[in-house]
Amino acid sequence: MDDHISDAVGRPDLIRLDDSLLCLRFETMKVVSALAAVRRLLETGAVRPGDTLIDSSSGIYAYALALACHRHGLRCHIIGSATVDRTLRTQLEVLGVRLELMRAGNDLKLDQNRRVARIREILAEHPEYHWMRQYHDDIHDLGYAEVADRLAAQLGDGPLTLVGGVGTGVSTGALAQQLRRRGADVRLVGVQPFGSVTFGCEHVADPEIIIAGIGSSIPFGNVRHDRYDTVHWTAFDAALAGSVDLLRRHAVFAGLSAGAAYLAARWEHRTAADRTVLFVAADTGHRYVDSVFARHRDAVPVERLAPRQVRSAREIALPWSRMAWNGAPAPAAARAADGRRSTAPPATAARHG
Ligand SMILES: Cc1ncc(COP(=O)(O)O)c(C=O)c1O
Repeated sequence: MDDHISDAVGRPDLIRLDDSLLCLRFETMKVVSALAAVRRLLETGAVRPGDTLIDSSSGIYAYALALACHRHGLRCHIIGSATVDRTLRTQLEVLGVRLELMRAGNDLKLDQNRRVARIREILAEHPEYHWMRQYHDDIHDLGYAEVADRLAAQLGDGPLTLVGGVGTGVSTGALAQQLRRRGADVRLVGVQPFGSVTFGCEHVADPEIIIAGIGSSIPFGNVRHDRYDTVHWTAFDAALAGSVDLLRRHAVFAGLSAGAAYLAARWEHRTAADRTVLFVAADTGHRYVDSVFARHRDAVPVERLAPRQVRSAREIALPWSRMAWNGAPAPAAARAADGRRSTAPPATAARHG
């Protein structure tokens, strides 16, 4: 029996789609991460019940933080992007979240910078608020240890390829790290939209939209580039084909980043049949009914798609490219000026004394 809905919603399902192609399916991914982060902040005294937590989010982190705050008697203030849809907005309102939505713009970099600027403004007025900084604070890694424990118990120690969309980079980076610490042979494959600065693809624009939640136009300190072996870039249409096929072939109704990860995972599975391939499905398909699933007749059969194998960022091209990353450091444009930070102080460093 769970004591709070966040436990039920946060716990992922491990689903075998094929012999050695598996799906780690979350209803909404960042709940485990937000819960563990908030728990640590409370344990160390960095925040206390009644305090306000603030952050920027394009969707699933807002919901995750709202649930963690609900559970622990904290207030939640979110600066959201236009990708926060009506269903989520309404839930957040009822949950008592203070939600500010920034106007949608064509320039993602401007949108991301404006959200950060707005947070700084609010913090100047309310220095007592705690800024979660999901893009930079590695306190968000903690929750994935529990997921890695379950994976290790169920998968054993055979060779594993882990595939997932990279936004903040925490889910893929922390899961791979946790499994590697247990001695597993893990290859990590990151999935990106075109136009993302994170792995050096800011020069190739996707005429369709950027895939919500993955990629970035500003550097994130939490992406640990040295943990990735391979990177795939998929266009919107390719991700759509993946999402539709995942539903049609395996009855898994998941979002666009999951469709992109599934496409990449199928490819990795084909090229290294001796390894178990596990991909992350971060959210359900509900948000994407109109933009993706209603267009299922337009979906290209996934068998017809193959990545262009590239050797440098200069060669990356639509609609799908794959490049060996081999643990290379962050490209210059993806290095966060203020880097990563840790708000997981030892218990003696409590702010409230
Ligand atoms: C739908 C979706 N998929 C994947 C990700 C990537 O997760 P992470 O931020 O852990 O890299 C996100 C992040 O917000 C997301 O919203």
